[in-house]
Parts: sequence; C-alpha cells; structure tokens
Amino acid sequence: MPQTIIAANWKMHGSQGMTAELLEGVKNAAVDAGGREAKTIFCPPYPYIAQVYATVRDWPFIGLGAQDCHIEDRGAFTGDVSAGMLKDLGCGYVILGHSERRKHYHETDGIIKGKVEAALRNGLLPILCVGETLAEREEGKAQSVVENQLLGGLPDAGLPNPLIVAYEPVWAIGTGKTPSLEDIDEMHHFIAKVLETKKSIERNRLAVLYGGSVKAAKAAELFSLESVNGVLVGGASLEAAEFSAIIKAAAER
Ligand code: PGA
Repeated sequence: MPQTIIAANWKMHGSQGMTAELLEGVKNAAVDAGGREAKTIFCPPYPYIAQVYATVRDWPFIGLGAQDCHIEDRGAFTGDVSAGMLKDLGCGYVILGHSERRKHYHETDGIIKGKVEAALRNGLLPILCVGETLAEREEGKAQSVVENQLLGGLPDAGLPNPLIVAYEPVWAIGTGKTPSLEDIDEMHHFIAKVLETKKSIERNRLAVLYGGSVKAAKAAELFSLESVNGVLVGGASLEAAEFSAIIKAAAER
C-alpha cells in the first residue's frame, strides 16, 4: 500500500499563538506516523507558512502546503501569491480547486488547470479537490461532475508522481455529514478508473484522499478502505487531540 497522507486544511483560522500550540500538540503523533508510512501535511494560511516551516523543518517526513496559488508566476496581481513564492517558503504542496474557492471566487476548471500548471512549473505537488453538491448527487450526476472536474482541472501532460486528488463532496464539508463508506469507495474507484483510462495514470501513481467532516471517530473505518489513500481534514485539524487521533489511525492502518 502506498504512503497514507493526512493533510490539514486550516482554512482562514489561526494566529501565531495557535500555530505554535497546535504544532506542539500534534508533533508526537505526526513524527511517529511519519516513520510508519503516514505523512502529515500542514496547509496553514499564507501568513503562518514561514512559522510552520521554521517549526517542522527538523521533523522527519512532514509536508508543508498552501491553500491556493495564482495562475501566473509574477505580475501586477495585488493581494495574490505565486506558486514560486510558496516554493521559496519551503512548501511542497498546494491545495487547488477547493469547493470554497470554486464557490466564493468563481474558479472554473480552466482557472484551476492553470493553477495546477503553475504549481507543477514551480515544483509543487497539487492536491486537486473535486466533489459534487447535494443537488448533483440527488440528480444522479455525482460521477459526471467529478469526471468533468478531473478532466477539466488536469493538464494533458506532465502529471506528477504521485498525483494527489481529494474527493470532497461539497455537502459533507463542515456539516458533520459524510457519505457511506460504500459511496466513498465507489467514487474513489471511479476517480482511479477515469484517470487510468483518460490520463494514463496508473493506480500506484495516484493518491486519492477523502475530505469532508473527517473526525477521529470516523478515521479508522475510512482507513479500512483500501481505496482511501489519505484524508483532507478541515475543522478537526485545528484541534490537537482530535487531529493527533486521526494521524494515529492512519499510522495504524
Ligand atoms: P471539514 O473540511 O473537515 O471541516 O469538513 C474539509 C475541507 O474543506 O477540506
């Protein structure tokens, strides 16, 4: 089984104090899991990236990522941050196409594809988020929505190894609701099939993460699915004990 990924999406939460406290609280679990094929990736807001880097740089097997990047490498784009700047700060990853960005910033698959290309150009591994809304699932369109997001958001060539995709049903994010294990398993297999047939990505080059109300209590059963190569965790990644328990479940799978 490939390495399990536990990615923390802090969203727009935190402070310098909280960053220090949280990292201290999860250090043991994250370092221990790192030695057991389970990699923790912290994705803090931009202002705390340097602080997280300074803290975790000596911890083995820990990843650092951001939550977005700009499509261009530089220029007159007030308020934006480029993939090269993230690399310069020590990031190895960047979350792209999160449903909150699709919704609040009207990011289309075309824009997301440009950002994926910018990330790859600058040596970052994208974590591409895909997922359907509740209405789309109820209309039986979940798979076609996810397929369109995958094919629209990924460039035709030059895909990285590993290619990291996070399946995050929009209706499960921050709501406490989660799909059944069967539904998660089915979608993860579907994602792998689409990428194998349409993008020639072999399964062992692909990490499919599940995201959406991942909590410690649910973690062990998520990791019982072989199709789940990791998790993308929002709310629960802000609580040291809860996030440590998720990391431990990944290490013990
Ligand atoms: P959640 O967020 O764990 O709070 O549902 C997940 C995400 O949006 O990445």
